[in-house]
Amino acid sequence: MIGVVLAGLAVAGCQSGGAPSTAGRGEALARAQAMAPKDARLAALYAQSCKACHTVPDTGAPLAGDRTAWDARWAKGLPALVQSTVGGLNGMPPGGQCFACTPADFEALIPFLAGREQS
Ligand code: HEC
Repeated sequence: MIGVVLAGLAVAGCQSGGAPSTAGRGEALARAQAMAPKDARLAALYAQSCKACHTVPDTGAPLAGDRTAWDARWAKGLPALVQSTVGGLNGMPPGGQCFACTPADFEALIPFLAGREQS
C-alpha cells in the first residue's frame, strides 16, 4: 500500500512544469486545472487523488475534461474504465490512489474526468 502511494507520488512529482507547446494544449491544461466536481464529496476525493495526475500532462494521464484525449478510452464503456481504474493501468496505481473511493464514486468521477458529465 505504501509502495503504491510512494510510486504515485513519484509519478505526480515528475512534472517538469514545461510550457505547453500549442495554444490548444495550453487551453486543455488550463481547463483541467480549473475544473472540479460539483459534489463536495467527489470534489474532495478528486482533489486528493485523481487530480494529482489527471491535471499534469507529464504523468501520461489523459487530462481532466479533455474530451479528445478521452475519446478512445470513453469508447471502451464506463464498466471497462471503472475496471481499469480499480485494477490500475500502467502509470495509474490501483484505485487511482483513492483508497476511500467506492465503485459509485468511480462511476461518477470517470465521466467527469472524460468531460462527458459534470459531477
Ligand atoms: C498516480 C497518477 C494517477 C492518479 C492518482 C490517477 N490516475 Fe487515472 N490514469 C493515470 C495514467 C498515467 C493513465 C493512463 C494509463 C495508460 O493508458 O497507460 C490513467 C488513465 C485513467 C483512465 C483511463 C483507463 C483506460 O482504461 O483507458 C481512467 C478512467 C482513470 N485514469 C481514472 C482515474 C480516476 C477516477 C482517478 C482518481 C480516483 C485517477 N484516475 C487517478 C494516472 C493516474
